[in-house]
Parts: sequence; structure tokens; C-alpha cells
Amino acid sequence: MDKLVIQGGKRLQGEITVSGAKNAALPILCAGLLAETPLTLTGVPELRDVASTLKLLDTMGVKVNRDASTVTLEASDVQSFEATYEMVKTMRASILVLGPLLARFGTARVSLPGGCAIGSRPVDLHIKGLQAMGAAIHITHGYIQASTLHLPNRRLQGAKYYMDLVTVTGTENLMMAAALAQGTTVLENAAKEPEVVDLAECLVKMGARIKGAGTDTIIIEGVERLAGATHHIVCDRIEAGTYMVAAAMTGGDVTLKNARADLLEAVIEKLRDAGATVEHAADSITVKSSGRLKAVHIRTAPHPAFPTDMQAQFMALNAVADGVATVIETIFENRFMHVQELQRMGADIEVQGNTAVVKGVAELEGANVMATDLRASAGLVLAGLVGQGETVIDRIYHLDRGYERLDEKLTALGAVVKRTN
Ligand code: EPZ
Repeated sequence: MDKLVIQGGKRLQGEITVSGAKNAALPILCAGLLAETPLTLTGVPELRDVASTLKLLDTMGVKVNRDASTVTLEASDVQSFEATYEMVKTMRASILVLGPLLARFGTARVSLPGGCAIGSRPVDLHIKGLQAMGAAIHITHGYIQASTLHLPNRRLQGAKYYMDLVTVTGTENLMMAAALAQGTTVLENAAKEPEVVDLAECLVKMGARIKGAGTDTIIIEGVERLAGATHHIVCDRIEAGTYMVAAAMTGGDVTLKNARADLLEAVIEKLRDAGATVEHAADSITVKSSGRLKAVHIRTAPHPAFPTDMQAQFMALNAVADGVATVIETIFENRFMHVQELQRMGADIEVQGNTAVVKGVAELEGANVMATDLRASAGLVLAGLVGQGETVIDRIYHLDRGYERLDEKLTALGAVVKRTN
């Protein structure tokens, strides 16, 4: 199993390019199921989760063609409408084929995603939304069995649906389903994440009629069919944010190309509060810091508030900052898996329910630690970059799910990082 070996203490300096957003690429690849002609996507990141999604689409009969970061999907001859447990247990985002399969083919059999390291992560709101659109859905033997064959013209019917919780993939699944429904759908309390907006922009290029993406009310007027198009995947704000924290923690001077400050306002504000300098142009962000930062209070919430996917990274920042800060996780019930590992590196963190109280220490010590989930692993990498001596991170396949060539990018910035197995 691959490990990452980091020698701490190096200031990060230089310039790297941010990849396409994982959480935009995954739903947009699934949107390929909706199109009768080829959909071409550029700027697709080379990640494990992207490879898993392409494999799933391929097993369904979608013709997949990939050339580095350009992917072309042709769903003119889909034979299977199923996402098996084997597939879904490795990547919960496979649930994103449910809406498109139902909308285009009227039938779908998708395994219920199990829980995962950060929480139970149910999909009840996805299911309720599709039922509101007329789908017949039965849960049997751990599978979601869905059909619209009993409906007029076998098509989902437009509906008005209020989501009890803000759900990113729930909003995306229902938006894709509504795109081909009969009539108009109104999604209320919708997620406003930039990746939802990017999916909507791609669907509109394919012929969908969508208004309000990026606000909490999205209106989708169903159309008869969707065609392929060409779409460039939006840059990954969480990858960018992770390197921005790395620059700030190591007292570095780093410029990120293909990064958009307008997608990271809450993160930029917190970095500035911590004492880092953040400047930006239209598609680049530069972070500078003298090294010693001030602890900052964090409370995660749906976009545009502070993103839960940046919580572990700021926990690492606070671990070596001046002062005491609270980190409150409001989205997932178990997203503090990185705490024990940071404590093994000497961090002073006390968890009370969904709140962690972090007292900055002068220095973390390098140690052998274990990655448990994607963003927790990112937090451990950041801790390793400033830790005294060597840090060895095990199970870094978690990192490979969401960070393209992380060791190469960090090395390009002057870090001493090696991948071993
Ligand atoms: C998306 O997950 C992201 N994944 C996550 O990123 C991200 O952390 C999360 O949104 C929150 O921003 C992708 O986009 C592929 P939710 P998602 O549905 O859609 C509850 C990463 O690191 N909920 O917005 O699964 C749920 O349990 C990953 O890149 C229900 O109760 O998250 C959670 O508490 C991790 N019922 C909250 O809502 C539902 O039907 C938000 O979940 C759906 C969600």
C-alpha cells in the first residue's frame, strides 16, 4: 500500500496549476448518460474517483474515450441501468447515475451507498425528490429499484420539491432528473456550491432549460431530449484551498494558477484573519505568510459559508497557530477522524461533540500516521509539511481520490515528499 514520506520544515515557494474540480467532474460525467450524442469534457482531473466513474459508465455501455484531461462520452447504446454494491461501496458518488438513468431510460437499480468514514450519509432526500417527480422506488436487498414505466409517456413529471437539508449531490441528482422530465420542476433549499453551478452550465449547453443554479431555488423546465456538447470543468476550489493553507502554514510564497478567488471567499477571509497575505487575479491566487499564524475559529456550513471539505486543513493550521480556536463541523457527524492522528503528532485538540477546541503548539513532531478519508489525509499532509522531522502517511489511496499528483505538485513547491510502497 502506498505511503507518503514527508520531511517537514520546508517553506513552499513557486507556482503550480490547480486541476479540474473532482466534485464537478463526477456529476458532469454522469450527465453524459442524458445525452444522445457525444459529450466532450476538458479539464477533467486524473483522479481515482474519476477513473471509478468512467469504469461504471463503461460497464453500462457508455463509450468512454479519454486522452489525458479530455474525456468524450457517448451514451447512444446504454445496455445496463445498474450500479452494483461493489461499485457504490468504493465511491458513494455513484449515486449520481440514479437521476440520469431514470430520466433517460425510465429504470435504474443502484446500490444504496453504505456509510463512510465521515458519517452515515443517507440518500433519503434524493429518493424523496424522485418520488415527488412520480418515480416508483423500492428499496430491496440494499438496492434502490426505481422506475417511471407507470407514468404518462414513461417520463418523470415536473414537481416542486423542498429539500429538508442542503444536499449537494441531492440537488445535482434531481436537477439532472428534472432536465428530461415532463413539465417544470422547482428545487427549493437547493445547494449553491460552485460545482452545482458548473453542472447546470454543462446541462444548459446540452439543451436543458435551467434557471437559478447557485441560488437556493433552481427551476428546471423539462425538454424532450439532450444532445452532447463541449464543456470545460471548473477549477477545484478545495484543491486550491489546500495548497493555500500549505503556503500559509510553511511561511511560504505560492501562486496557484487556474484558481478562482470568487469560489473561495470564506477560505480567503479565514487565511487573512490568520495573518496570511492573499492576492488574486482573475484565474490565479497568491498566498504569502511569515510563518507564525493566528488561530482562527471555523464553523462549516453550506456554500458560500466555510466549506466542510476545508475543515481538516484548518484544523492542521490551528494546531500550530498562536492561540486557541474552535472548529465546529455542522455538516457531517464524524468528520474529526484526523484529530487522533494530529494528536499523535503533538497537537493539543479536545473534541466535544461536533466542536474541537484546538490550542496551538509551538511545533508538531513528525510521526507515522494513517489517512482515513480524503480531506483528513490532506490535513495530515499539511501537518507533515510543518512537523519536526519525518512524517509517514499510510493508506494514501484516500488522497489519490481527490488530489491529482499531490506529491509532484508539493515537490515543485520545494517540499521534500516521496511516495513509497
Ligand atoms: C458532497 O457530498 C461532496 N461530494 C462532499 O465532498 C462534500 O463534503 C459534501 O457535498 C458537502 O459539501 C461530492 O460532491 C461528490 P451532502 P454529498 O448530500 O452530496 C445529509 C469530498 O471530500 N444528507 O451535501 O454526499 C448528509 O448526511 C467529499 O470531496 C441527508 O441526510 O453531501 C450530510 O450530513 C466528501 N440525506 C448533509 O446532508 C440526503 O439524502 C450534506 O450532505 C443527502 C444528504
